[in-house]
Amino acid sequence: MSLVLTGAEVLQLLDMELALAAAEEAFCAYGEGRVNMPPKSYLKLPKGDFRAMYGAVCLTDGDVCGLKWVNVHPENPQRGLATVMAKILLNDPDNAVEIADMDGTYITNFRTGAAGGLAARYLARPEAASLGLVGAGVQARTQVAAILKVRPIREIVIYDLIWARAQALRDEIRAHYRVRVTASAEPEAAVRDQEIVVTATPSKNPVVQQGWVSPGTHINAIGADAAGKQELDPAILKEAKIVVDDWTQAHHSGEINVPLAQGLLRPEEIHGCLGEVVIGKKPGREDSAEITVFDSTGLIIQDLALGWAIYQRARECHLGEEKEFIPGLTSR
Ligand SMILES: NC(=O)c1ccc[n+]([C@@H]2O[C@H](COP(=O)([O-])OP(=O)(O)OC[C@H]3O[C@@H](n4cnc5c(N)ncnc54)[C@H](O)[C@@H]3O)[C@@H](O)[C@H]2O)c1
Repeated sequence: MSLVLTGAEVLQLLDMELALAAAEEAFCAYGEGRVNMPPKSYLKLPKGDFRAMYGAVCLTDGDVCGLKWVNVHPENPQRGLATVMAKILLNDPDNAVEIADMDGTYITNFRTGAAGGLAARYLARPEAASLGLVGAGVQARTQVAAILKVRPIREIVIYDLIWARAQALRDEIRAHYRVRVTASAEPEAAVRDQEIVVTATPSKNPVVQQGWVSPGTHINAIGADAAGKQELDPAILKEAKIVVDDWTQAHHSGEINVPLAQGLLRPEEIHGCLGEVVIGKKPGREDSAEITVFDSTGLIIQDLALGWAIYQRARECHLGEEKEFIPGLTSR
């Protein structure tokens, strides 16, 4: 039997503590080689793309494999639709039987935020109290939720190309968190003197310039997740400790993809993968002055780990609907 969970049901079960724990599990499994994860493949469309992401992971409380079908359509908000929407299927790797068929939109948003929180935990200065946001969309919101759980943030500055979006996020943060928050019409204000910076835009040109980044800053580069996208001046990467989520995905679609293709950055200049840092195989932040960059492309194992945790919560709470999609063949 497969447990069918709608977005509303998934959202009832999700919280950032669970997402952070699942992210730690996923990146730990990655660092220890307990994953099988081919790079995602892209279906290009006139106004965006779809990605098929699939893989398997051995978690501490079970093995799971599965598939995520997810889009990125940056003009969708103008039509009242989300830029990113997703569906996740979970299967039992032992007999292939479908375990769950769930909305993956909120899981994507929470697991992306949680990866940013995890990176900040290992790479940002422990006392980091200021956060700059470049891009005030859906992903920015879960980055805030996760980073506030791992660092003592007291001040947030927000920039977005569309002023009303920066203002809307400012008002939302004011309503939910006890931090000082301002919206800025200039991207520089969201970067200069910020101890943590998050970029979460679909930009194909650098938005953040080198001269704006202070020593000791940690940057979560979230937006670049397809070939040709970039948010940071490559000169920032040249002086930073760069930690990617996965080398194969990052080199063709992450923040490093354009500077690598242009010969501005060499593969040897990448410090390592977040999973290696999480298990202690490679160091995270080593001094208070270094600039660190987490290049996030988004991994299926993050979705599987959080999807699995949500599936278990749903079972405990008797949420969702059991369906037998192939009568007589998939009961366990
Ligand atoms: N790394 C990951 O795991 C991951 C996961 C999901 C989404 N993403 C990527 O993150 C990006 C944002 O996704 P989202 O769901 O938040 O989208 P969204 O449409 O909700 O938000 C994007 C925001 O960026 C703003 N923006 C666009 N260009 C800008 C620029 N040049 N400067 C400043 N602001 C700009 C838009 O006005 C919008 O408010 C996309 O590129 C998406 O593909 C990455």
